[in-house]
Amino acid sequence: MQKAIFYPEMNLSELKKEYDQILARYQEFLQAGLQLDMSRGKPSPEQLDLASGMVDAVAHTDSFIVENGSDVRNYGNLDGIAEAKKLFSELLEVPVENVAVCGNSSVNLIYDQISQAMSHGICNSTPWQKLDQVKFLCPVPGYDRHFAICEYFGIEMIPVPLHDDGPDMELVKNLVESDESIKGIWCVPKYSNPTGITYSDAVVHAFASLKPKAEDFRIFWDYAYCVHDWYDERAKLLNIFTTCKQYGNEDLVYIFISTSKISLSGSGISAVAASDKNLADIKQRLQVQRLGFDRVNQLRHVRFFRNVEGIYAHMQKHRALMAPKFEIVFTFLDQELKSRGIIAYHKPKGGYFVSVNTLDGCAKRVYQLCKEAGVILTAPGATFPYGKDEKDANLRLAPSYPTPEELEKAMELFCLCVRLASLEKLLAAKGYSIKQESLSG
Ligand SMILES: Cc1ncc(COP(=O)(O)O)c(C=O)c1O
Repeated sequence: MQKAIFYPEMNLSELKKEYDQILARYQEFLQAGLQLDMSRGKPSPEQLDLASGMVDAVAHTDSFIVENGSDVRNYGNLDGIAEAKKLFSELLEVPVENVAVCGNSSVNLIYDQISQAMSHGICNSTPWQKLDQVKFLCPVPGYDRHFAICEYFGIEMIPVPLHDDGPDMELVKNLVESDESIKGIWCVPKYSNPTGITYSDAVVHAFASLKPKAEDFRIFWDYAYCVHDWYDERAKLLNIFTTCKQYGNEDLVYIFISTSKISLSGSGISAVAASDKNLADIKQRLQVQRLGFDRVNQLRHVRFFRNVEGIYAHMQKHRALMAPKFEIVFTFLDQELKSRGIIAYHKPKGGYFVSVNTLDGCAKRVYQLCKEAGVILTAPGATFPYGKDEKDANLRLAPSYPTPEELEKAMELFCLCVRLASLEKLLAAKGYSIKQESLSG
């Protein structure tokens, strides 16, 4: 392969020549009529097929009676059946009495937690809605749903840089320990959405040893990608629950998890793990909110996976589908873009996303160019509070849903679009302006 030329070092005539060549290739894509949505991290149909057996893991001829003698077809076990609690307790390495198993969505569980804090406070604190100001720290880039929940409840979001080993903990500590209006922080600690980084032991210790100014400050530890390892080298995350305990800080954290990206996205089961005090507080809400969750589905999950080893074995099948897709993305990014000095990215070992930083001011343009050629990416800015990426540089790639063939096409197009947008920027910097408008005519 010919060695790629570093774009920032090109002179004006080289840039112009390169631009004309890339534009011609892009125009071929415009004719091709591609149609692909890569905006969300959805499992592919093949991944869902892996858990199809879940649907009849509880047949009508089977027993519906669970460990405590209760019939799962009826109401009962408000905080989940014992068998499912045991499964999550082993997965999270948290005592079974500190786990509640709930419905199909962890986002729902998180939303309810914020809603409860707004209306009733946390463990008898002043309801947040009665306070003049409630703020959350938001490591960026981050998960758009977390930010949407804050925005919905009028919680002010403060961006905090997310490094390769976790959030900037010096800043987090300074803010949390000095400002009583800061009530929480969003964390996706393993294979973070979107950068794919995993928090280091030092970062987990820094979290667990925080001394927040607000007694009702909580860490929202969203462990969505707990078992989503696509390589032999697995990211190892220190147990936040036991680390908090070591510092006498067990009330500091809520851990959320679901099987949405393990079993069936819309029909999984979720869980929350928390200290005795926090869990009692959560159960006060649950007692009013519901008569029970879908226990038949909880039983399906237990019968299908049997135990934690069953979950790990199942994730190996996901790995066989996901790893080649991540490799496609890495190959394109490295060969087409990194070698030309026009992107920076972290290579995740698992999770669902690859987060790419373009040259400043190029992300929206790349999104527009991809869209016009038929590939929809996550909207630029979505990974930042209020949709505002000041640098206009971050784009999230979600490689799970397309087939490998579709993904190759999409990545080819993505790389062309990043090259075009970068060339437009570099040409403009040299005083040669190209009209930044639709190239589709
Ligand atoms: C960080 C994170 N949390 C939660 C979810 C969704 O979880 P659930 O389907 O359980 O609501 C996702 C899905 O993309 C996610 O990336």
